[in-house]
Amino acid sequence: MAIEVEFLGHSGFILRGAEGTVVIDPFLTGNPVAVKKAGEVQCNYVALTHGHEDHFGDTLSIAKSNNAKVIAAYEICEYLGAEGVHTEPANPGGRIETDFGWVALTQAFHSSSYKGQYMGMPCGVVVHFKAESFTLFHLGDTALFSDLKLIGEMYRPDVACIPVGDRFTMGPEAGKLAAEMIKPRVAIPIHWGTFDALAQDISAFKPDGVEVRQMKAGEMVKLGGVAG
Ligand code: NI
Ligand code: MN
Repeated sequence: MAIEVEFLGHSGFILRGAEGTVVIDPFLTGNPVAVKKAGEVQCNYVALTHGHEDHFGDTLSIAKSNNAKVIAAYEICEYLGAEGVHTEPANPGGRIETDFGWVALTQAFHSSSYKGQYMGMPCGVVVHFKAESFTLFHLGDTALFSDLKLIGEMYRPDVACIPVGDRFTMGPEAGKLAAEMIKPRVAIPIHWGTFDALAQDISAFKPDGVEVRQMKAGEMVKLGGVAG
């Protein structure tokens, strides 16, 4: 069995498994490369790496229209809870059981705020689909740090979504080192090309021993777990 991985553009994904659908960082309204509208997204869960507008995006409307649970840092969940959204607050290092498996938050070296309000720790998100034995690690907006190797050893992700747009995150050279430490089977470059301030050329993102799969917004691929 495989997971449908749909790229929403920038850092956003929809992951569809047999027992649940998760949306990560659904930034659609105002995203110059997005092809999907927030009203078209169907999901059971929303997982957020941090509070910045280009990640939080349409979380409020998507969570409400789908009656979906939001998994995010404690402070983001406080904000969303006050808006009537179902939440699963967490912090880096923790794991949350879900209908389809679990979601874990990991460290990220970045910042996190929303509309000027502090939104707790920035995170990476690890999503595990039990029925499919499939694990995806979305790094959020992190800088390079050597414990990415440890996170890779702990979760053994099939796929890693790695920011390579530079300035606010790693660039392609640092992203290559991150991929080589995490050792996923497939690396998807994210957080590049969306805006003028982000790198437009990521040809240096060529990690040894890792297949790079560059996705366009709206593109969907089926990716298998450990068994295929
Ligand atoms: Ni950010
Ligand atoms: Mn960002």
